[in-house]
Amino acid sequence: MSLFKKRQTLVPEEYLPQNVGIIMDGNGRWAKKRGLPRTAGHVTGAKVFRKIAKYCDRRGIKVLTVYAFSTENWKRPQAEIDSIMNLLRDYLKESLSDFKHENICTRFIGDRTQLAEDIQALMAEAEESTAEKTGMILNIAINYGGRAEIVNAVRSMMSEGISPEDVTEQTLEQHLYTAGQPEVDLILRPSGEYRLSNYLIWQCAYAEYVFMDVLWPDFTEKDLEKAFTEYARRNRRFGGV
Ligand code: IPE
Ligand code: IPE
Ligand code: MG
Repeated sequence: MSLFKKRQTLVPEEYLPQNVGIIMDGNGRWAKKRGLPRTAGHVTGAKVFRKIAKYCDRRGIKVLTVYAFSTENWKRPQAEIDSIMNLLRDYLKESLSDFKHENICTRFIGDRTQLAEDIQALMAEAEESTAEKTGMILNIAINYGGRAEIVNAVRSMMSEGISPEDVTEQTLEQHLYTAGQPEVDLILRPSGEYRLSNYLIWQCAYAEYVFMDVLWPDFTEKDLEKAFTEYARRNRRFGGV
């Protein structure tokens, strides 16, 4: 069924979150359940990511921020890290051809200086080639940690010579990787874990959280719609009444 026909039963666009964060978790457990190596879970997870990102753009989401690799994920076996980095390479090369037909503006958040040079170059190319796109902003968090992001913001403010009395929530926000973007409305974590794992800790101070029992490689557009429906039911008060 086309998106247009289905739309009548979907949450109307005005009730959708503008800014959605997804913690793409559960790849390893998905593979284990099938007797496959963890890398097989990452391969399928990467395909699901492409599908969900395109769907979010078509659905009118303004900003989607996906957690692909955390500052803590370096603790994993080197072979697993290498396979994740290779998937990132494939995605970047492909995104320069396939994704350029989409109206998605791709950005990367996290400390990229620790990544391989060819990956850094591809990231810059992907950002440049989609910078003028007018659709959804897709932030891909790689070597990202919320604490590291805040430390980095404080360092930038200090190196710019900003005086203590000029440090406000706004100035700090302007020095985050996500400067200028709306606050996160919805954080979605599949895989059955109930934690943030150092994700967007500043940006989701007032976000709504939806935790789902599905593993990321099994995640579908239908699951996303369930999360949107749950979000639309929430009563956001931001400290008011
Ligand atoms: C998420 O899946 C992908 C990354 C962290 C890169 P996991 O690899 O964490 O999968 P589980 O949580 O072990 O099932
Ligand atoms: C968070 O998942 C990071 C990503 C999904 C990229 P983890 O699997 O690393 O988180 P923990 O270790 O379960 O908290
Ligand atoms: Mg995990």
